[in-house]
Amino acid sequence: MQPTLRLSLSALLLLSPLSFSTANELLSCVEVDCPTQGGSADCRVANQTFTAVGLTSISISKEIFEDQNDDVELTWTVGLDHHDNVDPDDRYLRYIERVYYLGTPPTVDLTAENLEYGGCALYMTKEGNKNIFHSNNVSPDSSPAFCHQNLGDDCISALDSKISSLAGEHRTSASEADICSSIASSLQENLPSSCTALLTSNSNNSLLVRGVPLTGSQAPSPLSEAQNSSSNCYPTLPKSNNLTRVFAYNISASQFINETAPAIQGETPIWSLFWSKSQSEDDNDDAQIEDPTVQMVCLRTIDRTTASEETRADGGGAAAASFLYGSSGALSVWGTVVSVGTAMFSFGML
Ligand SMILES: *[C@@H]1O[C@H](CO)[C@@H](O)[C@H](O)[C@H]1NC(C)=O
Ligand SMILES: *[C@@H]1O[C@H](CO)[C@@H](O)[C@H](O)[C@H]1NC(C)=O
Ligand SMILES: *[C@@H]1O[C@H](CO)[C@@H](O)[C@H](O)[C@H]1NC(C)=O
Ligand SMILES: *[C@@H]1O[C@H](CO)[C@@H](O)[C@H](O)[C@H]1NC(C)=O
Ligand SMILES: *[C@@H]1O[C@H](CO)[C@@H](O)[C@H](O)[C@H]1NC(C)=O
Ligand SMILES: *[C@@H]1O[C@H](CO)[C@@H](O)[C@H](O)[C@H]1NC(C)=O
Repeated sequence: MQPTLRLSLSALLLLSPLSFSTANELLSCVEVDCPTQGGSADCRVANQTFTAVGLTSISISKEIFEDQNDDVELTWTVGLDHHDNVDPDDRYLRYIERVYYLGTPPTVDLTAENLEYGGCALYMTKEGNKNIFHSNNVSPDSSPAFCHQNLGDDCISALDSKISSLAGEHRTSASEADICSSIASSLQENLPSSCTALLTSNSNNSLLVRGVPLTGSQAPSPLSEAQNSSSNCYPTLPKSNNLTRVFAYNISASQFINETAPAIQGETPIWSLFWSKSQSEDDNDDAQIEDPTVQMVCLRTIDRTTASEETRADGGGAAAASFLYGSSGALSVWGTVVSVGTAMFSFGML
């Protein structure tokens, strides 16, 4: 891990902010230019302020949409908020809140009425919203997502096929809210056998799959201009995108590092599912969904800001990270209380 190398990589990304690379790369506050305060991010989106964000993009085939000349690039962003002192009887209790946003080009209005296509987001956690995948060995500012590796290629393609075939059990005329929640609960009850990592996590039926409509009358709407007027941060690329808060949840975690770190650094798999409503030749209103597209992303926040990049140029940040993530050092501080915010990952201070 050469701090200087990492700096020049981000410098490259800064020059071409649209270049979400392949390789499951997650972008951070550096690329979306979050304001910083006291060395950590201070990214306020409408009424909520995040100390870190992570984002990635997916490309949806233009065949799904009725009126697009090119494939449509969407972004998924997770923002990290936290609530300390939530219980007067337990001074160590903290909620880590993870908030998920979809970025859509202004030409794509998912909330328009009578769209010729439908869409859902599906996501998976353990009970209590805990993250399924967490790695002690990943430095908090490292960019690639790791949950693809945890799942494995066979499982990822089995999940894609499963989600497509579950979608195919529904009629295009049904409400998206019903379709999305039905697919989620069927998937939860019947995970593909090649998904050993998920089946192990699910040994006590503790996996939760949830479905959220992205289109239809119950779909969330993008931030209005009025809502966005209190923002100082807009974590999507390009910035001309509309940004929709799609779902959010709290993870109950103590202020001890053994609970805060997995809640912050764990990854959430999210599937974006879209289908056309007008694919059948006779334009039958009651047709089954056919040939939907499914794309998975793995999301977690990346602890990088323009301020931390400067610190790391001196080698400061890397030393702090290895203090925690070195294989032997980790356990000795596992019961240590940590703060989220001004010094989220500055375990070197302990
Ligand atoms: C913040 O905004 C979200 C989305 O618009 C809304 O659901 C929530 O109630 C708001 N929270 C507060 C405290 O205003
Ligand atoms: C997208 O954002 C633009 C600019 O704020 C706004 O005019 C437009 O109505 C938004 N689209 C939707 C679907 O909300
Ligand atoms: C499942 O539940 C049993 C009994 O409550 C417990 O001993 C075991 O550790 C649990 N397994 C997992 C993976 O959580
Ligand atoms: C929302 O507000 C942020 C911060 O002021 C700004 O950078 C962004 O361009 C705005 N986006 C839209 C679509 O209004
Ligand atoms: C998370 O917990 C805080 C503090 O209790 C609360 O204000 C917020 O609405 C919760 N967020 C969600 C998504 O439930
Ligand atoms: C985390 O560490 C604290 C303090 O050592 C301990 O009380 C708590 O049970 C641990 N939590 C988990 C999930 O292991």
